Amino acid sequence: DSGKTVVIAVDGPAAAGKTTTCLALADTFDLRYLESGRTYRIVAYEAIRRGVPVDDRSAVVGLCDRLIDESRTGNLFTSSRYRPQELRSNPVDLAVSAVARIGELRGRVTELIHQWARVQARCVVEGRDIGTVVFPTAPAKFYLTAKPEIRAERRVRQEGHGSYEEVLKDVIRRDQADMSRPVAPLVPAEDAVEIDTTELSVAQVVGRMVSVCRDRGVAN
Ligand code: DC
Repeated sequence: DSGKTVVIAVDGPAAAGKTTTCLALADTFDLRYLESGRTYRIVAYEAIRRGVPVDDRSAVVGLCDRLIDESRTGNLFTSSRYRPQELRSNPVDLAVSAVARIGELRGRVTELIHQWARVQARCVVEGRDIGTVVFPTAPAKFYLTAKPEIRAERRVRQEGHGSYEEVLKDVIRRDQADMSRPVAPLVPAEDAVEIDTTELSVAQVVGRMVSVCRDRGVAN
């Protein structure tokens, strides 16, 4: 548990606008921000780099433990050692779903997130299972969605790599992988506020999130 830390949990499928809106929310309320998907991406990236097959569960868990050992501070996953282009490359996109299916690894990542959060006063954490598994008692939870076509379009515009068709295919593939995995599948928490961002601007989405946080007394 995160003790007195106030956590705002933001979940949803790939490219639903979580990062953009979380950063705006963090800015508005002066919160620390954690992108939990980065942790899974770092493990996938290192597995590729070190030749560890991502479907070999125990090898991947072993790699994760080595990475934690190697990071002297223990917070490898927030380190700036990894460049965003590396972690968002196509091979990593393809490998990360297999990594995220491993229950034992998810336990390690959840523990790392708890360690990080323990020393924050107030934070916003984005991912797939933040409101359901990592912080089930978070006082404000959001579940962002948007039509896959819109999410792919936004991603192509933002990152400028890959064709629309390829990106759409990857978005749909990752939705399916995230939603159908046996451990911590992507589902909205019962008490999450769901926002379909398909027809909304960033400002509109952030506006709704801000007012929910105020209503709940989470931030002012
Ligand atoms: O948010 P993202 O696209 O960077 O996440 C990368 C992958 O990591 C995503 O396809 C599923 C996984 N993930 C997860 O299983 N649980 C989280 N809390 C965050 C990400």
